[in-house]
Amino acid sequence: MRRFSSVTVVEVFLVLALLCCSSWKVWSITLCKETNLDKVRPHSVSITEFGAVGDGITLNTKAFQNAIFYLNSFSDKGGAKLFVPAGRWLTGSFDLISHLTLWLDKDAVILGSTNSEDWPVVEPLPSYGRGRELPGARHRSLIYGSNLTDVIITGNEGIIDGQGSIWWSKFRNKTLDYTRPHLVELMNSTGILISNLTFLNSPFWTIHPVYCSQVTVQNVTILAPLDSPNTDGIDPDSSDDVCIEDCYISTGDDLIAIKSGWDEYGIAFGRPSTNIIIHRLVGKTQVSAGIAIGSEMSGGVSNVHAQDIRFYDSYTAIRIKTSPGRGGYVRNIYVSNMTLTNVDIAIRFTGLYGDHPDDGYDPNALPVIEKITIEDVKGENVKKAGLIEGIEGDSFVDICLSNINLNVSSNYPWNCSNVRGYSDTVLPEPCEPLTERIFPDHCSDCYYLSNHRESSNDKKSDGWFTSW
Ligand SMILES: *[C@@H]1O[C@H](CO)[C@@H](O)[C@H](O)[C@H]1NC(C)=O
Ligand SMILES: *[C@@H]1O[C@H](CO)[C@@H](O)[C@H](O)[C@H]1NC(C)=O
Ligand SMILES: *[C@@H]1O[C@H](CO)[C@@H](O)[C@H](O)[C@H]1NC(C)=O
Ligand SMILES: *[C@@H]1O[C@H](CO)[C@@H](O)[C@H](O)[C@H]1NC(C)=O
Ligand SMILES: *[C@@H]1O[C@H](CO)[C@@H](O)[C@H](O)[C@H]1NC(C)=O
Ligand SMILES: *[C@@H]1O[C@H](CO)[C@@H](O)[C@H](O)[C@H]1NC(C)=O
Ligand SMILES: *[C@@H]1O[C@H](CO)[C@@H](O)[C@H](O)[C@H]1NC(C)=O
Ligand SMILES: *[C@@H]1O[C@H](CO)[C@@H](O)[C@H](O)[C@H]1NC(C)=O
Repeated sequence: MRRFSSVTVVEVFLVLALLCCSSWKVWSITLCKETNLDKVRPHSVSITEFGAVGDGITLNTKAFQNAIFYLNSFSDKGGAKLFVPAGRWLTGSFDLISHLTLWLDKDAVILGSTNSEDWPVVEPLPSYGRGRELPGARHRSLIYGSNLTDVIITGNEGIIDGQGSIWWSKFRNKTLDYTRPHLVELMNSTGILISNLTFLNSPFWTIHPVYCSQVTVQNVTILAPLDSPNTDGIDPDSSDDVCIEDCYISTGDDLIAIKSGWDEYGIAFGRPSTNIIIHRLVGKTQVSAGIAIGSEMSGGVSNVHAQDIRFYDSYTAIRIKTSPGRGGYVRNIYVSNMTLTNVDIAIRFTGLYGDHPDDGYDPNALPVIEKITIEDVKGENVKKAGLIEGIEGDSFVDICLSNINLNVSSNYPWNCSNVRGYSDTVLPEPCEPLTERIFPDHCSDCYYLSNHRESSNDKKSDGWFTSW
């Protein structure tokens, strides 16, 4: 009898949810748009034709540079493919060109040189005003591209290994001269596909699209030791239309960190990260977050949709990091269908992250954090459900939590301050500022909530309820 009546309550609640949210526009999420997949390049050369030696000892920077210089002449003829066969191809930093496919065959390994002189020093990013770690310039990434269009980095199980441990020790013993390099950085580029490869041991962040549009990262594995410093997986930075799907990432820092510039430099540059889609991500990080936004978010971050995610043996699952001085905004963030196992903190917002480029930041530049929806989350062996801390006098608002069920060990599962929002069906019962019910009055205050529930005939959205 009691069981029956509680089922009825659930059904009534569901109907209310449908009515309430049906006015929302559906932004349908299926797969990354496959714009430049399977692009056939009419010309192809092997790196061996340019004198490269795959013995893991010979430095092949010149061979990569010469091959790409040669292939430039095909860029207006449909582009070209640079084929990297099986072997261990040691190299310093090299530049890509437009309409290029860099293809790594099975058992091909591109190895980053362990001599920092093979990683040239370049200008800092304008939206950061300085190197991220040290004032002034920074080392250029191993694989670099700027002002490009139509670039594919792919292959058949190939590996790109940054051999970053030399950089990690220099970071630890404080002997770095400049900010460490990324493994792959594409700047001011459009139409980028990175797929079907493994990325290992980046000196710093692994894949860094900055000021880019239409970036797809698909079916990649990114690995670095769990204690390697700042080896973020993928960091979309002041970039739009980024789609990341079917990836496994296990590194020493955030697995994905969405950024948009740092304090006064990011505010002045003013380029947001927007339309970021993350699908089917699995991973672990011992000290950081599965998906982070910030802490550099001064150009703004919006419209992030992350779905079908699993994090395990990790410190934090979802994290927003910001600070007075950042300015900018984080809004319209939607996370759903997340499964957590052995995670210390499921949801963490930090309003006082600190960490400024210099003393020139404006302490009155307060970030706007609003419309963050997290729904359909289950977790086993979670220590704390949420540590959600806004900024005094600058509350984070319209934080919406729905259908969350966490098996939490802490006696204080939620700590919240300077936040306001709503919730429904959240266990353990959320902190006081989030206890007000979403349905029926606050549906329109919540970003994207349950849109997908509206079209019950859509097979992708089917079963959201039964599966929990
Ligand atoms: C990219 O374009 C900008 C503006 O035209 C130019 O200053 C910069 O040198 C270009 N970068 C490269 C690597 O060509
Ligand atoms: C970005 O690249 C385009 C060419 O693709 C160039 O025209 C533009 O000046 C570049 N902008 C910057 C800021 O480098
Ligand atoms: C993922 O990439 C690997 C190569 O690293 C390839 O063997 C596999 O078929 C790819 N899977 C999909 C679904 O594309
Ligand atoms: C710091 O680490 C680097 C890389 O391992 C090493 O070459 C250097 O000798 C170390 N310097 C000091 C002062 O420990
Ligand atoms: C990845 O590899 C699989 C299997 O070879 C292939 O079907 C798929 O098209 C590749 N994906 C990309 C984006 O190249
Ligand atoms: C939730 O995500 C998992 C992958 O983590 C996937 O297997 C499952 O089908 C998703 N559930 C729904 C209802 O989409
Ligand atoms: C939480 O997990 C523990 C250990 O697996 C288990 O004993 C307990 O029953 C679980 N609690 C709930 C509410 O699922
Ligand atoms: C969290 O809340 C509990 C209970 O109110 C309190 O004892 C604890 O100090 C708080 N922890 C933090 C980190 O704010």
